[in-house]
Amino acid sequence: MFSRRSLLALGVAAGTSAAVSLTRNPTGPARAAVTPHPGHGVTTHPGEVRPAPAGAPFTVPMPVPPVLRPIRSTADTDFYRMTMRPGRARILPDLQTPVLGYDGRFVGPTIRARAGRQVVVAQQNLLDMGTSVHVHGAHVPAGSDGHPTDLVLPGATRVYRYPNRQRGATLWYHDHAHHMEAEHVYRGLHGFYLIDDPQERSLRLPDGEYDVPIMLRDAHLDETGALVWAPDGPPFRTTMIANGVAQPYFPVAARRYRLRIANAATHRTFTLSLDGAEMLMIGSDGGLLPAPVPCTELVLTPGERSDVVVDFGHHRPGRRLVLADADGGPVMRFDVVRREPDTSRVPDRLRALPPLPAATSERTMSLGVNHETLEFAIDGRAFDPARVDITIPRGTTEVWKVTNTDTAFGGLEHNLHLHLVQFRVIEREGEPLRPGEEGLKDTVAIPPGRWVRLQATFGEYTGRYVYHCHMLEHSAFGMMAQMEIV
Ligand code: C2O
Ligand code: CU
Ligand code: CU
Repeated sequence: MFSRRSLLALGVAAGTSAAVSLTRNPTGPARAAVTPHPGHGVTTHPGEVRPAPAGAPFTVPMPVPPVLRPIRSTADTDFYRMTMRPGRARILPDLQTPVLGYDGRFVGPTIRARAGRQVVVAQQNLLDMGTSVHVHGAHVPAGSDGHPTDLVLPGATRVYRYPNRQRGATLWYHDHAHHMEAEHVYRGLHGFYLIDDPQERSLRLPDGEYDVPIMLRDAHLDETGALVWAPDGPPFRTTMIANGVAQPYFPVAARRYRLRIANAATHRTFTLSLDGAEMLMIGSDGGLLPAPVPCTELVLTPGERSDVVVDFGHHRPGRRLVLADADGGPVMRFDVVRREPDTSRVPDRLRALPPLPAATSERTMSLGVNHETLEFAIDGRAFDPARVDITIPRGTTEVWKVTNTDTAFGGLEHNLHLHLVQFRVIEREGEPLRPGEEGLKDTVAIPPGRWVRLQATFGEYTGRYVYHCHMLEHSAFGMMAQMEIV
């Protein structure tokens, strides 16, 4: 159960050093989430931890996570193997950070799938707790979706199958074990899953080394470099991390780059700007937009992705541009280091959206803390894997009107992520759709007291899938529900 102060710390307050620590007093459904991961450091109240020295920014180049090679390929399938295991990362230049990672890496290897070609991944769990691997944004059979209770037990190997019968898109994979998803993702169980689409090739967007995935997140590191985990720790996570490194720099040629930016933070919303430079948004969660959207600010709530093209050709070698978060400060820096010819382009028309079939039913639902039980909840109820919250006939189209009811505690931000489908945001209360929201989405921001309407067509797969707030501390504490497609 929560104290109101813990709720505050989880929500909006910054620097609530006196907040009651959930870690000291875990009870009820929160227990699993606040039990320290065995062998990975015990946390007192995060405000009492001595932080790692900040160090000078932009001293370390940003790595690009390696692309995993298939162990075998057939005419229509690529087979991969990965392990989930402890590892060590250099988030800060002079300190080693124990992490949990896919192949032991703080940002797992990238899977580059191709639309229409199946990917099979054998995931071996070498950790001391159950895990569940979820590809966020993927349209997959229920048995491969990484349901929270469908665990890969320690020592076991699980084979996941991804049909990739969807458009090219920037997806990512991460842990989804019940009550542990927030801590596991925080400790490093996250990586990119990119679907390349042959249909995109004729557009001549920047590709190859000019197509760069960038995973953003934050962390709270102590003076030994260890990750400090506490569910009420978000206000203390002041280290800004890009592809696993704190405030790196990235050398670029004076030409166009496609940057696939993902927010893998469990709680932070990134509001990004690039020293005033224009970012041309070409894709959102589920793939290309119909047309590019120029912007100078990019807002990504946890789980959301944005594909942008930045033309560094507007700048001379020597120019440096800082990508900064409005709240957290500089995240990374792009250093223009050389001239280079550029044959890429961004056409005015990218890709038409799929047709939007008429909806046959409309549901309403609410995200918010239940003020009686003090649980994070959807429609007043905390997640119960034994309960099916809604049943949806396969192949049908629905509209969901989803309200964030948390105007108390100063207002809590939430978002909503649906497994299985890419949806369309069709209406946002009191404001126009945000840039990129006219595209295919799987995660949508919902400010306190507001609602959004979204429309989704539930395709051919049947079974149980979850939907939840992607501020993972919230979903770990119950802001998750289950739909069954029948
Ligand atoms: Cu990004 Cu249910 O997950
Ligand atoms: Cu997901
Ligand atoms: Cu939430």
